[in-house]
Amino acid sequence: MSIVPHQPIGVFDSGLGGLTVLQSLRARLPDEDFIYFADTRHLPYGDKPETFIQTRAQRISAALAEHGGCKAIVVACNTATAAAAESIRARLAMPVVALEPAIKPAAALTRNGILGVLATTHTLASRRFAQLVKNHAAGTTVITQACPGLAETIEAEGPGSAKVETLLDAYVRPLANANADVVVLGCTHYPWVKTGIVQRLPPETTVVDTGEAVARQLERRLKETGIPGGGDGQLRFATSGDAFQVGATLVRLCGIFMPVESWMI
Ligand code: DGL
Repeated sequence: MSIVPHQPIGVFDSGLGGLTVLQSLRARLPDEDFIYFADTRHLPYGDKPETFIQTRAQRISAALAEHGGCKAIVVACNTATAAAAESIRARLAMPVVALEPAIKPAAALTRNGILGVLATTHTLASRRFAQLVKNHAAGTTVITQACPGLAETIEAEGPGSAKVETLLDAYVRPLANANADVVVLGCTHYPWVKTGIVQRLPPETTVVDTGEAVARQLERRLKETGIPGGGDGQLRFATSGDAFQVGATLVRLCGIFMPVESWMI
């Protein structure tokens, strides 16, 4: 099947973390339509086995391409990228843009050579992450902090909740203590709690995430493949979880009031 400009772009994450990426995509590419899929039934990915994440990511990408009629896929999840980016690319004849922790820009920004990285257990343990550090941050000290429980608590209880605050105390303090002057948000859920993270770091610390860079990369790939534009900013949401509950979380997290489709995949 050939792909044409007016088809939508599929974006997915384990839950609603990828919306932080979708915001950047829509801001940069207003002439594109998007379908966002939240794999809420399987949130969180971060502590699950690699083969499980791989299978989910492949199944979701295939559904977005076939059922959703998408012309390109954005893997808006660091954990799914680490587990499955190559295998998704191998299966789909369309642009697949994936994201990973912003180690390269962080290494360029640091003044004292100490980088902090907040991410899921799986992302930090992945071969892809080790390679990223080796390739782009060889001369720096990289302090990693896994954040089990954080992504799902942000969705379940909200960014300012007591439980989120307790988790941030535990996960951000080690990076402040280690003197990291650049902190990478290596999970797409964490920009939802950026304010809480910034509050726990010294004021001169730079906090980086990947939304903008992914939007630029998608723009480039669409141009290269001759399929940019063709839409008008339409948006559809789908989930593997409870569509009503996901709709309510959407309103609470980002004030988006929209119907959510239920996809049995
Ligand atoms: N938002 C996802 C990421 O960027 C992962 C959260 C999770 O499911 O553990 O890694």
